[in-house]
Amino acid sequence: MDIAVLGAGAMGSVYGAFLASQPENNVTLIDIWREHIEAINAKGLTINTPEGDMVVKNLTAVTSALDLKPQDLVIIFVKATVTEEAMRQAANLVGPSTIALTLQNGLGNIEKLCRVVDPKRVVGGINSYGSSMKGPGEVILRGRGETVFGEIDGSQSERLSNLKKVFDKAGLPSSVTTNVQGRIWTKLISNIAINAPCAILGIKNGRLLEHPESVTLLEGAVTEAVAVGKAMGIIFETDDPIQYAKKVIDNTGENVCSMLQDIRAKRQTEIAVINGAIVEGGFKHGIPTPINMVLTNLVKVIQENYPAK
Ligand code: PAF
Repeated sequence: MDIAVLGAGAMGSVYGAFLASQPENNVTLIDIWREHIEAINAKGLTINTPEGDMVVKNLTAVTSALDLKPQDLVIIFVKATVTEEAMRQAANLVGPSTIALTLQNGLGNIEKLCRVVDPKRVVGGINSYGSSMKGPGEVILRGRGETVFGEIDGSQSERLSNLKKVFDKAGLPSSVTTNVQGRIWTKLISNIAINAPCAILGIKNGRLLEHPESVTLLEGAVTEAVAVGKAMGIIFETDDPIQYAKKVIDNTGENVCSMLQDIRAKRQTEIAVINGAIVEGGFKHGIPTPINMVLTNLVKVIQENYPAK
């Protein structure tokens, strides 16, 4: 299977490496971070897993999708802030039988992809792994989670049953849902609980559960998000969103969440499509979201105060 991963940061690299571990998969990583791409081409991609290092050499890494042919599968892993632009620049990867799969954080990625490629090609999904970059060509996998995807019209399809087999065989246990928006919102709950609080406090995910103050904060933020989601007709895939969020925190306790990684690297964060999206939804549906508004505003101020490069 020809697979391209668009956005080979920590998560894209982990998925690319696992998929490339199967000889029948021909994997190409695409990322604008030149040092990372050059390091992969020079010495392979190293994933530090809790079980030891995994070094993958049989994949290709490039800084632009321009010269590539249409793929069987394109996994979109760029930051949610640049989904539309990145897909536009790589639209040549999507042919009449390609699956364009988003496993990104945040709300709105499906909609952005559908603006650029044929919506029939687009599949939504989530992952809840915890990983971070160690340096060019090297990624640390700190916590495993789930990979779930589903057709955007809620149907069951053969292409996704087949895709599940490809992921499972590569060591990425997956499942198929008929409620993809519900699944994306359920994953969002963990990002609501973890990302902005950890980014503002400068702590690893697991530390959040060690202080009653941060527990109260994350519970409040999650409660608001669930109220907004329910008002929008979302059917969550958990009966206890707070417990769900705490379980993700446990599973990724040693991880530095993606938003804290972004802040440390002085990059734009995904705040607008995580807590910001809750504030926006709250306005539309008359639901107060003071905690998410404070979290959103604080992260925005941090971003606006990055020293000039
Ligand atoms: O954004 C992240 O960092 C991840 O989605 C998660 C699951 C919160 C783990 O850190």
